[in-house]
Amino acid sequence: MYVAQPIEWTDRGVIMLDQRRLPAEEIFYTYTDYREVAKAIREMVIRGAPAIGVAAAMGVALGVLNSPAKSVEALRSEFTDISDTLAKTRPTAVDLFWALERMKRRFAEVTVQTSDLAKIKQEMVEEARQVHLEKRATDEAIGRFGAEFMPREGQVMTQCNAGALATGGIGTALGVIRVAYEQGRKLHVLVPETRPYLQGARLTAWELHKGGIPLTLITDNMVGHFLKAGKVGAIVTGADRIAANGDTANKIGTYQIAVLAKENKVPFYIAAPVSTFDLSIPDGEHIPIEERSAAEVTHLQGVRIAPDVKAAHPAFDVTPARYIAAIFTERGVARHPYNDSLRALASAGQSLATTL
Ligand code: MRU
Repeated sequence: MYVAQPIEWTDRGVIMLDQRRLPAEEIFYTYTDYREVAKAIREMVIRGAPAIGVAAAMGVALGVLNSPAKSVEALRSEFTDISDTLAKTRPTAVDLFWALERMKRRFAEVTVQTSDLAKIKQEMVEEARQVHLEKRATDEAIGRFGAEFMPREGQVMTQCNAGALATGGIGTALGVIRVAYEQGRKLHVLVPETRPYLQGARLTAWELHKGGIPLTLITDNMVGHFLKAGKVGAIVTGADRIAANGDTANKIGTYQIAVLAKENKVPFYIAAPVSTFDLSIPDGEHIPIEERSAAEVTHLQGVRIAPDVKAAHPAFDVTPARYIAAIFTERGVARHPYNDSLRALASAGQSLATTL
């Protein structure tokens, strides 16, 4: 089945598919400078929490690889600049910071072992490629755990795009749907368009259509209508950050879907890697919410659709844990009370992760 490739490390640089141009055009860029990678993340050439993490890891690798530093000390100081530049791109997705932390840890390990700059550079490239490889294995494991919760047949709903484009693997929420579909469940996906950036209409509809999975595109204000009709068996979305108590930040609009799901007795699930957990914060109140440009609300693909008035654009909202029936991860399924189950999965540890 078709799997989109949003990002790839090559000898020529980091290749990215421009997600802003989909579905009309499939345009790829090759980046050789980490500042270009940071700009690509900020401007949504690449988006989706895990894919942002992969891009950040590759951005660090590019920065180290192309550094003119002549000593480990000089490279260390440049490493900090590279990492800070990438950290300032998008604030909500914790995968970005997870990937930067991981690259930093590897840099510290390698520079203790050797002062050979060529060897250090090679190890950083290897680490970034490893981050990408692991995302693929992670998605497949999430898909297997989550598929069990999908109905044998009928409608399921998602939000935004948590597919291959958003992870570099098979996707988290769409990975669950894909695995369930491949197992023979006769699913039909309701795809809310996800204003204002239209990740549902432009990206999820494109991915599902190319993958041969039946779908119906709906506008965001049709969600309640379809849930009330009683034919949706499950809702599964991705996540950008999950607090210790299970409160989950995801694309704006997810909260209202979860509330409507509860009202209509439809189970609402999150599919996300353990790297999305932020156990340092007790609840969703502490999740930083990215404010994007109001022009993304007043304009549709560059065309003005509203008068020149004030517009708000919080890019994410927080769904309280009480609306979430379960969280599918690569290490298993978390359930209430999330304070316990998330902590258990987080410390279920490396041994499990490496057997993926
Ligand atoms: O602003 P975006 O497109 O990066 O937001 C993406 C989402 O909200 C996704 O649902 C989330 O990152 C999970 S992607 C597997």
